[in-house]
Amino acid sequence: MAKILDVNYENTFSYHIFLEEDFENLKNAVSELDTSCRRALIVTDTNIAPLYLETVKGILSTCFLFVDEVILTPGEKYKNTDSVAEIYEKAILDDFDRNDFFVALGGGVVGDMTGFAAATYMRGIKFIQIPTTLLAQVDSSIGGKTGVDFRAYKNMVGAFHMPALVYSNVNTLKSLDDIQYASGMGEVIKHALIKNKDYFDYLSEHIDELRNRDTEVLLRTVYESNLIKKAVVEVDPKEKGERQLLNFGHTLGHAIEKCSEFSYSHGQCVALGCLAAMYISGTCGAVETEAVRRLMDAVGLNTVLKAMDLDEVVLATRKDKKMDKGQVRFILLHSLGDAYIDSTVSQDQMMEALRYISK
Ligand SMILES: NC(=O)c1ccc[n+]([C@@H]2O[C@H](COP(=O)([O-])OP(=O)(O)OC[C@H]3O[C@@H](n4cnc5c(N)ncnc54)[C@H](O)[C@@H]3O)[C@@H](O)[C@H]2O)c1
Repeated sequence: MAKILDVNYENTFSYHIFLEEDFENLKNAVSELDTSCRRALIVTDTNIAPLYLETVKGILSTCFLFVDEVILTPGEKYKNTDSVAEIYEKAILDDFDRNDFFVALGGGVVGDMTGFAAATYMRGIKFIQIPTTLLAQVDSSIGGKTGVDFRAYKNMVGAFHMPALVYSNVNTLKSLDDIQYASGMGEVIKHALIKNKDYFDYLSEHIDELRNRDTEVLLRTVYESNLIKKAVVEVDPKEKGERQLLNFGHTLGHAIEKCSEFSYSHGQCVALGCLAAMYISGTCGAVETEAVRRLMDAVGLNTVLKAMDLDEVVLATRKDKKMDKGQVRFILLHSLGDAYIDSTVSQDQMMEALRYISK
């Protein structure tokens, strides 16, 4: 069943998240934003445009005075200031002013760049998120973190800028390739592990439906993950405390991502990082750990780290942005569904956990 969530920012209503199984309600959702005299620039990429641009543009053309599009080259490699410049250029050519809208139609890469362009074009204009990957629907479209990579530095340039609306059509997830789908599932499982044991049980009980991308189960999954992400970003929008819990699995996950030269997807690295962090936590028994592995395996996530230089991985954790006074910051579990921030994990513990996930 379709659902609507309210997200607050600084204790005031900020935007709605629509969870839908098609684009039929998009016109209705956008109608809340008073757009009839406004322009919209849809930002998407060459993979997504042939699938969804025509439908979305057709609907938005009934809501806005004028609709145009920018179609970018896909991939993290192009999440940079050059791509953002393409968005600015089109907006300038089309005479966009501060009252107009950008619309991100795509995954986290398109969403982060469109959001950043919206945060900075004319010192800030509104933007709508229409996320089309699982990762974007459960994570990156919510919370207002926007940005681009700069040279070799990931997400080095960015801004906090809240969307005016998030519209997730879960049936767009059916065209995702298996690797991208599994990558999003890495974040989904992470959400359940840090905040909600019942959600973890739900996922474990619906393994076949998740594998088959059943619409109802996807709707419930995106909804449960959105509840968690929403609650965390409402309490801590600028990542000073609670929001750091979302980094569960990311300390070793990022290090693995870097040392594997990005041959693993992000969510895959997070999943391995979650298993390592569970091991370091020492609070989940063999039965629970096995249940997590089984769920990960079922949705296409590797649960064994391929051969790599583990010393290099440990070293890479020290380059992570999430350091606390020289000590690597970890998110650990008191129990399944209950996470906390810790700054006492030693390099030996990390090495032991990496060896554990290597077998
Ligand atoms: N802002 C945040 O809070 C936040 C949080 C997590 C991650 N991120 C960022 O998100 C990015 C990763 O996002 P992602 O995993 O969505 O990757 P992505 O945006 O690169 O999309 C993955 C691939 O799937 C294609 N694609 C997208 N939707 C599709 C669909 N429905 N059908 C078929 N193909 C489709 C894209 O063209 C791309 O090739 C990273 O840059 C990361 O830094 C941001």
